[in-house]
Amino acid sequence: SETDKGTYPFYMLKEIDEQPNVMRKLAQVYLSETGEPVINEKLLNSMKQADRIYIVGAGTSYHAGLVGARLFENLTQTPTEVHISSEFAYEQPILSKKPFFIFLSQSGETADSREVLVNVNAANYESLTITNVQNSTLSREATYTLLLHAGPEIAVASTKAYTAQIALEAILAKALGESDNQIVAQRFNIRQQLGLVATGIQAIIDAKSKLEDMAKKYFLNTPNAFYIGRSLDWSVSLEAALKLKEISYVQAEGFASGELKHGTIALIEDGTPVIGIITQAKTAGLTRSNLQETMARGAKIITITTESLAKKDDDIILPDVDELLTPLLSVVPTQLLAYYTSLNKGLDVDKPRNLAKSVTVE
Ligand code: G6P
Repeated sequence: SETDKGTYPFYMLKEIDEQPNVMRKLAQVYLSETGEPVINEKLLNSMKQADRIYIVGAGTSYHAGLVGARLFENLTQTPTEVHISSEFAYEQPILSKKPFFIFLSQSGETADSREVLVNVNAANYESLTITNVQNSTLSREATYTLLLHAGPEIAVASTKAYTAQIALEAILAKALGESDNQIVAQRFNIRQQLGLVATGIQAIIDAKSKLEDMAKKYFLNTPNAFYIGRSLDWSVSLEAALKLKEISYVQAEGFASGELKHGTIALIEDGTPVIGIITQAKTAGLTRSNLQETMARGAKIITITTESLAKKDDDIILPDVDELLTPLLSVVPTQLLAYYTSLNKGLDVDKPRNLAKSVTVE
């Protein structure tokens, strides 16, 4: 059945493996035969009237929101903010005249996010919940729902829900941008891109033994590690670091690579692993110099980059996709690095200490 581990030692590996199919499933559910998004018209109209989108989520869903904001701003030209739900609930920013709210929640049950939705409903604003669970609380209480169709996610550390959220945000942003005649959205070939993403994720998974070797070499005996990147690569760095922390208990942080020199570089010692994510042409050179700066202070550096930006000594090379969608690929090696670190430490990958799959208290 769907909730059977089968031959997998842990659900997390199964769920990482399912990601190419989740990408295909989303294309199947949300795109027409000609590759055009098929999204509820009422939802699109209500989003079209908004002067600003507010994305709200917790944990990994918040990180998927960070990527979503770039997608909405690029494809729809609508200013988009992303907020941690537990912060937004009690320190609400001054809202625009016509806000629209998007709740991201794998489970649809996170109490922190629900608290925001209760306030949003009390103020009579419209909202959309993007969730993996039909009839969940956040789904029932929001104006609209889009389902992730990722299948049950059982491992506490979220993997396929993150990539599904980003892919669905991309489909929605494409639909919204197109309905508003935005040229960037019209040119964004979502069907072709999701196909490339699915094949790309599969290629990364097929080469996973190299990632296990790297996890053993760099992460098994280190107290800490840093992921760095700029723009979308920074957003993925945050998720990559969270994954490593959650299941391997390595003190990991994601940093905007330009910020390193303003403080964090003080933490670099001989042998500290620093992983650079380099998928954006505009900032690739800058992140590479920031990596060099850490190397000069003793860091062991690992690079995750794309075919078109790759240099001779790069470690992990991802197939090229549209620059807006590189998070769907760059996150996968970081999921596998976290998985293999946890596995080789002999930890319970699926049930890390102190964590719950769904947190229903504030
Ligand atoms: C818990 C889980 C995280 C998850 C977060 C938000 O903390 O351990 O993996 O990202 O909740 O959950 P949600 O279901 O709202 O996406």
